[in-house]
Parts: sequence; C-alpha cells; structure tokens
Amino acid sequence: MLRRSFVLGSVLAALMSGGAVAQDVVKIGLILPMTGPFASTGRQIEAAVKLYMAQHGTTAGGKKIELIVKDDTGVADVTRRLAQELVVNDKVTFLAGFGLTPTALATAPIATQAKVPQIVMAAGTSVITERSPFIVRTSFTLPQNTLPIADWAVRNGLKKVVTLVSDFGPGLDAEKTFTEVFTKGGGTVPEKLRVPLRNPDFAPFLQRAADAKPDALFVFVPSGAGSAVMKQFAERGLDKAGITLIGPGDVTDDDILNDMGDVALGTITSMHYSAAHNSPENKTYVAAFRKATNGMRPNFMSVGGWDGMHLIYQALAKTGGNTDGTALVNAMKGMQWMSPRGPISIDPETRDIVQNVYVRKVERVDGELYNVEFATFEAVRDPGKEKK
Ligand code: PHB
Repeated sequence: MLRRSFVLGSVLAALMSGGAVAQDVVKIGLILPMTGPFASTGRQIEAAVKLYMAQHGTTAGGKKIELIVKDDTGVADVTRRLAQELVVNDKVTFLAGFGLTPTALATAPIATQAKVPQIVMAAGTSVITERSPFIVRTSFTLPQNTLPIADWAVRNGLKKVVTLVSDFGPGLDAEKTFTEVFTKGGGTVPEKLRVPLRNPDFAPFLQRAADAKPDALFVFVPSGAGSAVMKQFAERGLDKAGITLIGPGDVTDDDILNDMGDVALGTITSMHYSAAHNSPENKTYVAAFRKATNGMRPNFMSVGGWDGMHLIYQALAKTGGNTDGTALVNAMKGMQWMSPRGPISIDPETRDIVQNVYVRKVERVDGELYNVEFATFEAVRDPGKEKK
C-alpha cells in the first residue's frame, strides 16, 4: 500500500515537472484538417510549417523542436479530443493549426486550463482570441480583410450590393463588416444570403442574387470553396449581366485560382496575402514553397503556418527555452517581423495579428491567374475588436 502510493506519487511528480525528456524536447501539436472538404488548408499549412523547419533548423531557444501533426478532418469534437490527448499524453508545449473557427473555439478551454499557448494559424472569426488568454493568432480576421473591399466599393461608386456568405462565424463577421461600412457610405444591401457551410449548393442563392440586379456580389466562402462559386456565377450568367464579384480574398484563394478560368478575371478582393505580392521575402518564399511541394502555389493559409512557426521559434529564443505557457505568451506580445505577406506584428493587448491588407484584382500574368495587388491598407488591426 505504502509502496503503491510512493510509485503513484513519483509518477505524479514526474508528470507535473514535465519529465526529464520533456525539458530538452519541445513538442508542437499541429491540429489541421488533412482530409475532408477543408484539406487544402491542412496541406498548405503543413507544407509551410515543414518548410520553415527545413530552413531554420529543428532547435529554438536551445530546445529540440518536435512536430506532431494530427488530422481533425475539420470537425470540432475531433479537435477537442486530439488537443486533450496532445496535452495530457504528449505533453506538448504548443497547440497550433486550427483550420476552421469551430475547431479553434473548441480548443480554447483546454489551452486555458493547461496554460498551453494556442497558436491559431488559420481560423478568422474575430472573437477567437477573446476565448482564451493563451490564444495568439497569426492568420487574419474577417473584419480586418473585409474593411478595405467595403471601402473600395464605396469609393468606386457601387450603389447596390448583395452579400452571400457561408453561414458560420467568419461569414457572419464578413457580412456585418461589409454591410456596416457600405451602408454608412451610402450603399444599399437588398439581400443578405447565407449558405450552409457543409455541402453547399450555391446555384439557388446565386439565382436570387442575380434577380436583385446588384452592381456587385460580395462573397465570403472558406478557402477551397471558391471554384464552385465561380463556376455557378458563370453558369447563371452573373458575369455577363455585368455583376462584379467582390469580397475578402478567400474566394480567389491562390491554391485553386489558376484553375478557375477566365470567369475569375476582374474579381476584386482584399486580403493579407497574395502569391503575387511583390517583395523579395515573398519571391524567396514562393520559390522555396514550390520547390518543397512539387510545384504547389502557396496561399493565404500557408503564411499563417509559416509565421506561426516564426512566432514559436522567436518566443522560445526570447524565454531562453523556458516552456512556461504564460512566459511564452508574454514573449509573443508585441513581437513584429517581416513576413512573406509584408510587415506584421502581434497586438500586445488582443494577441491578434496586425497586418497590411491589400486590394487586388485577378489578372493573367505570364499565362497564369493571380491576385494582383493595387492598393495597401497599412497595419490594419482587427476592427471587430475596436468596436467594443
Ligand atoms: C474560419 O473557419 O475561420 C475560416 C475558414 C476558412 C477561411 C476563412 C476563415 O477561408
């Protein structure tokens, strides 16, 4: 009896101290949709994370970095179970990834309870960072990416715009930001269409949009869904009717843009990243990414993974390898660096990303379709939080 409680006691002590091995190895639990309808997000982020490690080595702050990739298929219940296992069994120092808003939200209480930093590399609903003091975001927010295109619509004399969004957090954020800015600028939004996230059929919604005869159709769909929208947009003749497609840049995602064909030409979007971003850092990034992935073009999700790894490496360097979650999050606050997307920083108050957002037009460049940037909104904070 005595002996048993002694053994139990030592196991508990070892668990609490993290164990001898855990002190030299820092584990990152990377949870992504690697299969299912959002697999392109997983593929892009995993490739960027691995590229970062290939280029920067596998030690940071004197610790050996070990990556554990888990596939949550984009389903929040699976994410929650995986996050729990990664914390309890693998004793990860960081939880990272999160391809969709519900998966990030499901993990927030675990990050808080375990005091493990949760690096959100993809999900974009404004409220996410408020759900745990251990969340730090390297992706984007929908209000942040929507504000510039709403401003563009006002300035370019658009009067009537129909909105069409996927019916979940980021879509509702996009709809709200666009409607507020556009109507304040004198525009009208006669229809606000919401399409189911899973297995969407865009055709009936696009028909309703066409019937309203707007100047433009504002669209938010998650990364990967843009091709279906574009195809239906053309099949219903919205392009021929002179309706411009606008929105945050998720709809003209670089991962699939080049296969959309001529119907995508002229689409105006605003976004934090384009593979065509003209900077030396981005040219190097795109070339290395293509080389490492057998020719894949990096999209806006990939840079969330790349910069998330930079954040983790720099935080460990700053703490001198101290893996205490609070110390690591404190080290991340206010950090700034040059990303392939341009200059970025972590707002010390909100732990959310501050970044340039670019207005772009789809054009054919050297035979391929690209989002060509033509205007810049500098150092944009998440407007979703400024209102509060
Ligand atoms: C999200 O779930 O927050 C999300 C997913 C895909 C996007 C944007 C936001 O393209």
